[in-house]
Amino acid sequence: MNKMNLEIGTPPVDEDAIALEGVFEEARIERLSPVFGASITGVDLSRPLTAEQQVWFRNFLTRYKVIAIRDQDIGHEALERFASYFGEPYTHPMAAAVGQTSAVNELRADEKSTAAFGETWHADMTSEESPPTVTMLRLAVLPPHGGGDTLFADTVTAYERLSAPLKAFLGGLTARHNSGIFSEKYGASGNLPEAIHPVIKNHPISGLPTLFVNTRFTKSIVELGQGESRAVLEYLFHYIAETPDFQLRFRWSKDTLLVWDNRSTQHCAIFDYWPHTRVGYRVTLYEPKTA
Ligand code: SIN
Repeated sequence: MNKMNLEIGTPPVDEDAIALEGVFEEARIERLSPVFGASITGVDLSRPLTAEQQVWFRNFLTRYKVIAIRDQDIGHEALERFASYFGEPYTHPMAAAVGQTSAVNELRADEKSTAAFGETWHADMTSEESPPTVTMLRLAVLPPHGGGDTLFADTVTAYERLSAPLKAFLGGLTARHNSGIFSEKYGASGNLPEAIHPVIKNHPISGLPTLFVNTRFTKSIVELGQGESRAVLEYLFHYIAETPDFQLRFRWSKDTLLVWDNRSTQHCAIFDYWPHTRVGYRVTLYEPKTA
C-alpha cells in the first residue's frame, strides 16, 4: 500500500501508513499504551518538514490520536510552522480576556493559582459548530517533583466498547454544547459559541465513530426529556472518566511537544503540583469552512 494515499477517507489502521523508511530515517516510535498514543524521537521540528513528512505526521496522529514528539527545544516560530501543517490557528473566545495576542497561548499555573486550565474531562471547544481539530502543547517549565500529568481517553475505543443496543440508541441522538463554563468560571459575557452535534460523530479522516459528549461543554440531549438526558449524559461522562482501559496518563518530560486529535480523544489536566510552577505553550487548530 502506498503510505501517502492514506490521508483522506481511509482508516489509517495499516501499520504501513506510518512506516518511517524513506520519510524519517533517524526516527523511532514507541507506544504510549496498547490502545492509543505513541511517542517519536529522532525528528527535528526546528526546520521545515517536506510535504511527504507533513502528510506522514498527519497520518501518524490520526492513527495514534495522541503523539509525543520528544526533544523539541523549539521557539514559537517553529511551533507555529509545525502547527500550520495540521490546520488554521483557532482563536479561543477567551483569548482577548487572558491577553493572548498570537496563535500561541501560554498556559501557566503557579503559587497564585487556585486551578489549572482544563481540569475536567473535555475535548477542546466542542461548543463551536466546527470544533478545533488538533491541539498541541509544549511544556517549557515542569514542576520540580513531577505532577502536572495529562490524562487522555480514546473516544473511538470508548464507542467501540459500548454494547450494541446502546450504540444503536445513541446513534440517533444529538446533543447541545455550550460555553457556559466561561461565564460561570470567568464571568465572560457576550456571544459565546453554542452548537448541536451528533452524540456519535464520525471522525472526518478515519471515518470511525467516536463518542462525542464531554462534561465541560455538553449540556443536554436534544431528543430526550430533561431527566432522561441528564441520566444518559451522567452515564457517558462517568464511563469516559472512569474506564482506565481506554485511557492513558501522559507524564511530561522537558521539550516534549504533545499533539492530540481533538476529534477522537478527550483530556483532563491534573493540578497536583501547587505551589510549583508549570508553564506550557499551546496552539489549537481548526479547519475553517470553505463554502
Ligand atoms: C488543556 O488543554 O486542556 C490543558 C492540558 C494540560 O495543561 O495538560
